[in-house]
Amino acid sequence: MSPRVYITRPVGREAVEMLAARCEVTCREEDLPLPPAELAQALRDMEGLMLAGARLPAEVVARAPRLRAVSSVGVGYDNLDLAACTARRIPVTNTVGVVEETTADLAFALMLGAARRLPECDRYVREGRWRHWQWTLLWGADVHGKTLGLYGFGNIGQAVARRARGFDMRILYYARQRVAEALERDLGAQRVDRDTLLAQSDFVSVHVPLTAETRHAIGVAELARMRPSAFLINTARGPVVDEEALAEALERRAIAGAGLDVFEQEPHVHPTLLRLPNVVLAPHVGSGTSETRARMARVAAQNLLDLLDGKPPKTLLNPEVLG
Ligand code: 8YV
Repeated sequence: MSPRVYITRPVGREAVEMLAARCEVTCREEDLPLPPAELAQALRDMEGLMLAGARLPAEVVARAPRLRAVSSVGVGYDNLDLAACTARRIPVTNTVGVVEETTADLAFALMLGAARRLPECDRYVREGRWRHWQWTLLWGADVHGKTLGLYGFGNIGQAVARRARGFDMRILYYARQRVAEALERDLGAQRVDRDTLLAQSDFVSVHVPLTAETRHAIGVAELARMRPSAFLINTARGPVVDEEALAEALERRAIAGAGLDVFEQEPHVHPTLLRLPNVVLAPHVGSGTSETRARMARVAAQNLLDLLDGKPPKTLLNPEVLG
C-alpha cells in the first residue's frame, strides 16, 4: 500500500505530483496557519509529513502514531520539536542549501532600503509631496565602504558577506566557531568578539538560528553598544532581538534605523515599529521568490520520498535516528 502523506500548505503542483507518483497525498488547500489540534487530527493515519509554514509541537508528534518521516520546508527548524521526533525515531529533514542566497538578497535589500530610506522616498512620491528637486531631500547613509557586522556566520551570513564585497565593505563576523582561514580570506571577513562587532559596525545583520541561547541575544545592552549611526537588520528569527528594546532604541534614535523581516510574535509587530519612519518592514518573506519557493517545495518533496523509501536524504537534522 502507498504511504499516506500530508502537506500543510498548497506548495504547488510539481511537489504534489512528485509525491503522488508514490504516495497517497493530502494537500491542505488553505495557505493559512494550521492550529496544532487540526494538524494532529490530519496526521492520525499519516506516515509522512511535509511541514510548510506550520508548527509541529511534541503533543502533535505524540498524537501521530504512524508518522515516520518529516520533511520541513525551510532552513530554520525552531517551529518543530526535533527532540520529540528523535525520541520516536522519526527522521526530519530541512531545505538547507536552498533558501540562503534568496534570504541574503533580502537582508541586503533591507540594508539598502533602511540606509537610503526607500519606504519614505516611495511614500513621498506617491503622496504627491514631490514638487521640486531639493539639495537636502531625504538624505540617507552610504552603504558602500562601510563596516558590516554579521552576527552569525553560517550559509546566509556568508552569502551576505559575498554581496558586501561588491560594495567594498569591511566585513566583521561574530560566531561561536571560526570558519576556515581560506574562507575568511575569500570573503575578506574577520572574526571579532561580540562587543567589537556591535561597537564597530555601521550595519549589524543577524544570522543565527533561534535557540534557547540566542533568544534576545540582541537586547538593551547590545543595542547600547551600537553606534547612533548604525542600522540593525534581521532576516533570521524575531525572538533573537528583544523587540521592545529595539523599538525603544529606534524611537530615541540610539541607533539610526532597522530593516526587519521577522518579529517576536508574527504577524504582530510592535506598534512603535509600525509608527517609526526609520524602520523598513517586511512580512517574513526572506525566501519568498517564485524560483526559491518552487525549489524549496521540490527539494522537500524529494527529501520526503527518500525518507519514506529508507534512502539517506541529502539533509538530515537528526542523523542518530538512522544509525
Ligand atoms: C520559510 C524560513 O518560509 O527557511 C526558513 O527558515 O524562515 C522560510 O524560508 C519558513 O520556514 C516557512 O516554512
